Amino acid sequence: MKLATTTLAASRKSCDCIIVGVYKKGLKDTGAADIDEASDGYLKKLVASGDISGKAGTSIMLTSIPDIRAKRVLVVGLGENKELSAKQLRQALKLATKLIKAAKIRNVVSYLGLEQSSRINPYYRARHTVETICDALYSFNETKSSRRPSTPALTKIEIAIDSRGEATKTISGAQHGFAIAEGVALAKDLGNLPPNICTPSYLARTAQKIARRYPNVSTRVLNEVEIKRLGMQSFLSVTGGTALPAKLIVMQYKGAKKDKPLVLIGKGITFDAGGISLKPALAMDEMKFDMCGAASVIGTMTVIASLQLPINLNIVVPACENLPSGTATRPGDIIKSMSGQTIEILNTDAEGRLILCDAITYARRFKPDLVIDVATLTGACVVALGKHRTGIMSYNDNLAQEIHDAGVSADDQGWRLPLGEDYEEQLKSNFADFANIGGRDAGASTAGCFLGKFAEGLNWAHLDIAGIAYRSGAAKGSTGRPVPMLSEFLLRRAGKTL
Ligand code: BES
Ligand code: MN
Ligand code: ZN
Repeated sequence: MKLATTTLAASRKSCDCIIVGVYKKGLKDTGAADIDEASDGYLKKLVASGDISGKAGTSIMLTSIPDIRAKRVLVVGLGENKELSAKQLRQALKLATKLIKAAKIRNVVSYLGLEQSSRINPYYRARHTVETICDALYSFNETKSSRRPSTPALTKIEIAIDSRGEATKTISGAQHGFAIAEGVALAKDLGNLPPNICTPSYLARTAQKIARRYPNVSTRVLNEVEIKRLGMQSFLSVTGGTALPAKLIVMQYKGAKKDKPLVLIGKGITFDAGGISLKPALAMDEMKFDMCGAASVIGTMTVIASLQLPINLNIVVPACENLPSGTATRPGDIIKSMSGQTIEILNTDAEGRLILCDAITYARRFKPDLVIDVATLTGACVVALGKHRTGIMSYNDNLAQEIHDAGVSADDQGWRLPLGEDYEEQLKSNFADFANIGGRDAGASTAGCFLGKFAEGLNWAHLDIAGIAYRSGAAKGSTGRPVPMLSEFLLRRAGKTL
């Protein structure tokens, strides 16, 4: 994708399509006002006739407007107030991209968010613009035998700016936005692939392929013999019922000389049938998305590597399936984790925490600056926060806040859920150090507390993405979240947001 800026006014810009906006009551944004003036009130007439309402979710593609150089002008409704927010900008561009895609437009110039009253700065404006357009172009067509939709026609996005002084920040935002969209697309692809293709070995090969693309990324894949040697009995207890080999995937990105690495851990259950505590049949296919934590940390790795950020980032992905069989772990089994702590497995469907706890212990060898695990961990988190926000859990208030704030800036939001002694109590076991479930109440928090028992002394946070990683129903598919949130967090750590 070519990314550029332009200082030309909307009416004077030659291209396939320019995007301008109109607020409710026909209030025109900077680009729309310029088009209107140059075309002798062309838009004004459409507002008067009711063809342009300015309502959010409306749009109209106009061609051959007199005295306008662009072939097409796409007018999108921006909704209520005149202070454009990132959310409004993204919603409008998502809709615009549908039309751009359908019309096979090759180059586009966005004038949205140009006005002074916009609440978004030039860097974030460009980032949201490019990220949203590229994200909306995404389609998954790996597994249909019918004609593969060709790659999108769009090859260039230009962003209009007021003055040359904004060019540097705008270009940098555009590049970051593109990198994030690419990371999101990779995460979506991995999530959307069926569980018979996206196996633990497939995830491992994907990680190895990424390492080949960047000289400062390396990938190591540990097999079951090596995993056993490390003492990861908790991880291995989950893979007991499947014929597919489990993998521990470790990626290392070196972008700084001395800094301690930041570690991201992703849950990589490529299919979660629940094990002996078998799940009901309804929507069980969606448990192919149970590796979306892994997909999101691998996607984030590509964002950081493609931008060559000056940080050190390590990724740990325990990957396996959770199936029932005669060799599967039983409810009641007690296993010893890599940390030495024993766990009574009361429900084999609470498997995510069993693979993650050993991954957290493994991460200690890196003497990490911080550890964040990302997992489709509990249905309880979906009940608590719906399909909107990531559950953020940490004993460190500052870290929780930092992650929350990154989510706000990235328009990929989270909300903090509690941890603490009262919830930890629920994990008591008569036979082992603790149980792997804590009863019906506060399921997201008790799962977080379970992981916390392995993170003692670490600067650690847990993200429960069960609600936001994928959509069900007609729009079934992976969202690629929380790649934008994690990328923002790391961009901030690298001091690269402007
Ligand atoms: N992968 C599921 C959690 C999940 C549920 C993800 C819904 C996405 C949508 C996880 O492994 C699981 O089965 N959790 C159980 C835990 C329970 C047995 C304590 C759950 O949430 O029901
Ligand atoms: Mn499960
Ligand atoms: Zn699971």
